[in-house]
Amino acid sequence: MKVLGISGSLRQGSHNTNLLHAAGELFGDDVEFELWQRLKAVPPYDEDDDVDPAPTAVAELRDAIAGADAVLFATPEYNSSVPGQLKNGLDWASRPIATSVLRNKPVAVVGASTGAFGAVWAQAELRKALSTIGARVVEGEVAVGHAPTRFDENGRLIDEDIREQLEEVVQLLVDAATARQAAGAQVAA
Ligand SMILES: Cc1cc2nc3c(=O)[nH]c(=O)nc-3n(C[C@H](O)[C@H](O)[C@H](O)COP(=O)(O)O)c2cc1C
Repeated sequence: MKVLGISGSLRQGSHNTNLLHAAGELFGDDVEFELWQRLKAVPPYDEDDDVDPAPTAVAELRDAIAGADAVLFATPEYNSSVPGQLKNGLDWASRPIATSVLRNKPVAVVGASTGAFGAVWAQAELRKALSTIGARVVEGEVAVGHAPTRFDENGRLIDEDIREQLEEVVQLLVDAATARQAAGAQVAA
């Protein structure tokens, strides 16, 4: 099984990217976890550019999602919402609408912010957009507030409560991906 991680923060030292690194360590040996770090290269969505072949970074994004059994998103909150570049990436990934690589894809959303609330509004908006796109959004939530206190100077997660919550979401995501694989195998049989 392959799981893709996508961080909504582009910056070096991002707490959200660090959260994905921590999540990556919680998957079992049978899961390959890959952090997708080309979001910055994805151009602004323009329907005139949404043609075949797609812009290179868009094709890479779509291929990365298509090749994964599940996607784990970690998002910061920018002005009570999802960072524009992440939403932009989702807009590209949502097309063509009938065959979107996110359709029926098991996805989970976690998030971190420097404030107290752990990007809960951004997470809610991201889940809403992903549901609209047709992804299977798993239930779990991890809201990492006061993010600078939860990681050490090397960016490693040091909060064991958060790690437990992360483990639950990771398990729910793997369960959803396993269920989808089993359903696909039944249809093929
Ligand atoms: C443009 C911008 C808007 C922000 N708006 C919010 C916000 O609405 N709520 C919040 O809790 N934090 C907000 N923040 C602070 C982010 O939570 C903080 O920068 C966080 O560390 C970003 O995540 P990262 O460490 O993964 O880059 C904002 C930061 C930026 C740069």
